[in-house]
Amino acid sequence: MKAHIQQLLEQAIVCLIKQQIIPADTQPRINIDRTKDKSHGDYANNLALMLAKPAKQNPRHLAELIVANIPESTLVIKMEIAGPGFINFFINPNFLEKQIDSAYSNERLNVQIEANPQTIVIDYSSPNLAKEMHVGHLRSSIIGDAVARTLEFQGNKVIRQNHVGDWGTQFGMLLAYMEELRAKGEPIENNLANLEIFYRAAKARFDESEDFATRARNLVVELQSGNEECLKLWSQFNETSLSHCQETYQRLGVSLTRADVRGESSYNDQLAVIVEDLDKQGLLQQSQGAKCVFLDNFKNKEGEPLPVIIQKKDGGFLYATSDLAAMRYRQNELNADRILYFVDARQGLHFQQVFEVARSAGFVNDKTSLEHMPFGTVMGEDGRPFKTRSGSVAKLADLLTEAEMRAYELVKEKNKEMSEQELRHIASVVGISSVKYADLSKNRTSDYTFSFDSMLSFEGNTAPYLLYAYTRVVSIFNKAGIEMGGVTAALSLTEEKEIDLANKLIQFDEIIKQVAKQGMPHFLCSYLFELAGLFSSFYEACPILIAETETQKQSRLKLAGLTAKTLKQGLSLLGINTLERM
Ligand code: ARG
Repeated sequence: MKAHIQQLLEQAIVCLIKQQIIPADTQPRINIDRTKDKSHGDYANNLALMLAKPAKQNPRHLAELIVANIPESTLVIKMEIAGPGFINFFINPNFLEKQIDSAYSNERLNVQIEANPQTIVIDYSSPNLAKEMHVGHLRSSIIGDAVARTLEFQGNKVIRQNHVGDWGTQFGMLLAYMEELRAKGEPIENNLANLEIFYRAAKARFDESEDFATRARNLVVELQSGNEECLKLWSQFNETSLSHCQETYQRLGVSLTRADVRGESSYNDQLAVIVEDLDKQGLLQQSQGAKCVFLDNFKNKEGEPLPVIIQKKDGGFLYATSDLAAMRYRQNELNADRILYFVDARQGLHFQQVFEVARSAGFVNDKTSLEHMPFGTVMGEDGRPFKTRSGSVAKLADLLTEAEMRAYELVKEKNKEMSEQELRHIASVVGISSVKYADLSKNRTSDYTFSFDSMLSFEGNTAPYLLYAYTRVVSIFNKAGIEMGGVTAALSLTEEKEIDLANKLIQFDEIIKQVAKQGMPHFLCSYLFELAGLFSSFYEACPILIAETETQKQSRLKLAGLTAKTLKQGLSLLGINTLERM
């Protein structure tokens, strides 16, 4: 409601600037306060007092001018000028009541369906298959997934693209090692069970033996030119690695499937076409034997133009080349209106460059929006990028297992009588959602510190806090003996805490829009956290099951019910499941 009143006042300011009543550079801080005495309305504002001086007006008179320029609103029934020039707003409680009533009985909780749905390609997770997924892949996978779910919920056509790194020089080394194992008669499958160890062993061979390294380099060439035997080994490797990824997605509740995988290798036959196309358009230049595009906007420290290398001297293609091919595919075949990339902030320059090349070459048309959605690094408590105790990069699967184990201890502590099976289930939901929520609730552009203790806390902006808030409402309904969606009586808002909660509930739609537009799930997290907090204060001040009248009880149950539905829906957009008890 405050946001709404703020908007009304901002619009009045614009009008008054146009009428030259207040100076054009006026950008006042608008403070809106709840009134203590309801006979003065619900909200009060001191804008006229603040602007009186710059506008050289009597504050009461200015207040009258402001009120006269405030646009019509169904939410505000009356405005009054009080004292030296305060403006008091009287809110139409009917409006709020109607909104809550209708959201409560609406499957979508009144979240609007996009009037002009778009086709939105989302490139996320996209790990390199040479190794197992590690903590660095957490952010891309879960932030991308939350935004995908949100855009989909709005009615857009979302196309997920898992642009896995399944091509390039590292694969030569891996294939050479596979061949070596086979020659020794060792079963490859067993060795692939742990990709980390496999990778390290291959790398060790590569570093120690010149022969091996030469074989590895030859195998890349063989692979890229379509040698059957190489392709077979390569796909055996990728199958194993991809199934590891799928397992992790499953555990994490990330909605990517095998059908969403479209890795770098799938653009292989397009790479030469890209080079040809760029060349035809006169965009390519030779530089030290490599084919490059030079962009005016990108210069190095010495002020010389920075090249985007498209093809190396030895004929090999680069990461940028497959990204260009992918953009063209997403534009022409997938008909994207927006293409979003959830990729580490450290690849910012890469994306600026390939976006510009793609536009200059017409691979992507002007109407299609290309958006790098960067995210920061997961840090350890020592202030450096997160590592395991032994100092190696933390495997994502191990991290999730540890979270589940820690959650198990916590849940067991609180529920001594629970069956082992239920404990395990709850621990898994709490553990995984804590890891996810801790990440999603931070502004994605910043780095954050990974801490099991704070993510598993029942206090503060955490998954356990929200999951618990949800179970509280569930238990109220259980005690009342009715279904959460089963309240039929109309809403009647009288208490301040009820109105505060109702005001928050009707903002859900606004928040969803914000997340969808900016690709920032932390807005939704903050919203859910504030909602749960307002629910707590409401519940403390306004007894539900022992309310004074039946009407009041039903009305409060309805507010509680909509709170729970909103929490559940919000968490589900974040890819987090709720629990009925914990
Ligand atoms: N495989 C890359 C990495 O692990 C990320 C790919 C992101 N997507 C893209 N289209 N470049 O760093």
